[in-house]
Amino acid sequence: MPRFKPDLRESEATPEGIYLRRREFLRLGAAGAIGAATSAFPIPALAGPDDPAGEVLPVARKADMAGGEKPTPWKSVTTYNNFYEFGTDKADPAQRAGGLRTRPWTLAVDGEVKRPLTLGIEEILKLSPLEERVYRFRCVEAWSMVVPWVGFPLAGLVKRAEPTSRARFVVFQTLLDPAQMPGQRSRILEWPYTEALRIDEAVNPLTLLAVGLYGRVLPAQNGAPLRVITPWKYGFKGAKSIVRMRFVEEQPRTTWAVMAPTEYGFYGNVNPAVDHPRWSQGKERRLGEFLRRDTLPFNGYGAEVAGLYAGLDPRKLY
Ligand code: MTE
Repeated sequence: MPRFKPDLRESEATPEGIYLRRREFLRLGAAGAIGAATSAFPIPALAGPDDPAGEVLPVARKADMAGGEKPTPWKSVTTYNNFYEFGTDKADPAQRAGGLRTRPWTLAVDGEVKRPLTLGIEEILKLSPLEERVYRFRCVEAWSMVVPWVGFPLAGLVKRAEPTSRARFVVFQTLLDPAQMPGQRSRILEWPYTEALRIDEAVNPLTLLAVGLYGRVLPAQNGAPLRVITPWKYGFKGAKSIVRMRFVEEQPRTTWAVMAPTEYGFYGNVNPAVDHPRWSQGKERRLGEFLRRDTLPFNGYGAEVAGLYAGLDPRKLY
């Protein structure tokens, strides 16, 4: 990420107050909902610009998988983004992605599969019960967050397509539409943004297809309507706004590994012991926090995923 400095400006550090106000809102909001149900005069919305917004998703179960850490405020998660299709500044996606048309939306599942699929977003939303998973999320740029994603394990969709015995990787492709995505009109990256996982990584129970966060439909800047989340990998592995999943035999070319092969490996596993050529990966800063904290191997999910990489040189796994 060429223009990046691995830190946050002070103005971007969201103080505790926003989180506390959110809790206050939730408390008042619950009371307001009860009031609205019993009163002839609906209570005006209490939501402020910092509060979760958008269509509420039906979530069947919730799991905290971030060791009880409090989630990063909605405002930070939705205004400090990497989505180069809408510009290279962290503030660009929130300002420019709002017009992205996410309905209708189609995902093609093809390549080395016995059952190629073409699914509309409404069908995808009905494939499996939606879960909220609170995950740590670590960007390669040494910032991190704790996010209550809403989605479902990718494994179900992979099984449905029945990969052939030749399939070893699955490639995820973002929408290519320069009319809607102004960043694609310049050649800052090879478009469409492409990422990939080995199939055993894709079917690991931690891997999600995310459709929301904080119980709401994903905001466009976070990759609406559909994106990949692999919490033990750097954030760049999770392609946003995907339209195609293609199963292949050979390890594919992926956007950042092609763009800067000395800086981004294919695996992108979070590894504090392997520095990026331009900065240390040993520490990170949670959005909204001032002090840095130690980065955990596999972002803290080693017990679940380290076994996938037995026998591989850890220096190749970044
Ligand atoms: N997907 C697309 N299509 N384009 C991008 O620029 N950036 C990646 C990843 N997915 C990116 C993308 C990077 S570098 C990160 S850190 C995460 O999205 C950021 O996700 P967030 O903005 O929801 O935090």
